[in-house]
Amino acid sequence: MWSSRWMFVLAAAGSAVGLGNIWRFPYITGENGGGAFVLIYLVCIALVGIPIMMAEVMIGREGRQSPVNTMRGLIQQHHQHRGWVLIGWAGLLAGFLILSFYAVIGGWAFKYILGLAGGGFTDATAGQATGTFDAFLSRPWEMLFWHTLFMVVVVAVVSRGVVKGLETAIRWIMPLLFVLLAVLLGYGVTSGGFGQGWAFMFRFDWDALTDRALFEALGHAFFTLSVGMGAIMAYGAYVPSSVSITNTVVTIAVLDTVVALVAGLAIFPIVFANGLEPGQGPGLLFVTVPLAFGQLPLGALFGAVFFILVSLAAITSAISLTEPALAYLVEEYNAKRSRVAITWGAGCWLLGIGTVLSFNEWAEFHIVGDMTIFSFVDYVTQNIMLPLGGLFIALFAAFALPKSVLGNQLGLTGPVARKLWLVLAGLTAPLGVLVVFLVTIIGLESVKAWFAG
Ligand code: PHE
Repeated sequence: MWSSRWMFVLAAAGSAVGLGNIWRFPYITGENGGGAFVLIYLVCIALVGIPIMMAEVMIGREGRQSPVNTMRGLIQQHHQHRGWVLIGWAGLLAGFLILSFYAVIGGWAFKYILGLAGGGFTDATAGQATGTFDAFLSRPWEMLFWHTLFMVVVVAVVSRGVVKGLETAIRWIMPLLFVLLAVLLGYGVTSGGFGQGWAFMFRFDWDALTDRALFEALGHAFFTLSVGMGAIMAYGAYVPSSVSITNTVVTIAVLDTVVALVAGLAIFPIVFANGLEPGQGPGLLFVTVPLAFGQLPLGALFGAVFFILVSLAAITSAISLTEPALAYLVEEYNAKRSRVAITWGAGCWLLGIGTVLSFNEWAEFHIVGDMTIFSFVDYVTQNIMLPLGGLFIALFAAFALPKSVLGNQLGLTGPVARKLWLVLAGLTAPLGVLVVFLVTIIGLESVKAWFAG
């Protein structure tokens, strides 16, 4: 069990805050035109993400086992349909798939620690920073090396069990990360691109909203909160009964959102001040941030520290991606944790090679449409698997568990608070997912046209 409320807050925050906030949020905001996308993302966090995260913690704490066995136990205890256990299985698969590409991007962050420390970006131009990144992408062996290293570190950490070290690590990572994001933000404010960066993120241009932006905003809300695949459920199993789930979850969600918004506000001014393209894709972080540090005093040092922190944040998230599976395998087969971790990690690593090659040798190999292996795995997990997982988690918590469980777990005193939560988890959140799916299938244009009469 976690030693205190803070321990869980830290662990869950460590899971939530990661590449999703610092690398993915800015680049998909850029790809989806900013403003309207950001607003929808925020709405999804508040109305869909938070209630589902509460449901996940609650189910985890009620079952007190790995997600698969927690679901099994609760199904039996409350005489529910056996199909609900799919929530657990789908989560294991999603965690496996996500980690496969997550480790590759984590490897990029590793690589950039050295890249900055070496002073290679001092006074670099936008063209040079872009060139350095593109050149790196074109070297599969080098990318494979960093990918491998990231996976080895993650496996080494999870082999020893989750709790040890996590608390201390996150206590340091989060505040330091904030400080360095603030430095970047300060740079952004003085760089001359801040007004444009701000406008890009917060000016809501509804006409520019596309179905893809809508769909990705929902998927990203799940991804960034680590919700929909059981990671938070697995951590929830260790939460002491005295902890208030509502306060804790809201704290984590706010923290996670603030980190993402600050990262965006730090990055977009750099984009505009240097005439870069906001929609340039996954390289955005790795081009803008070195560029900025290259122009700051002691930039090589601070830049290296920044990427150390990003790497650490990525590791704490990666740890949580493995937890549902490892906890299950250890529980079920009484296996040694390290052996399970190595096997699982090796599988993810192998699949990750597909992502490595998506940026070079296999860039022209498309699974469907113009999707590379990386974009396909990314798309399926975040936009489809996590929202569907979350949908069923919410429905299970709201309808399959007796109301007494709900009252005890959430500690929502008073019928109003309970009703409100039930409406959010049982109605708003599932409906949110379904509406976004439906609109994407029908096409936003026809929906807009229909509303326009
Ligand atoms: N939330 C993590 C991030 O933003 C990624 C993650 C997703 C972790 C799902 C666990 C489960 O980087």
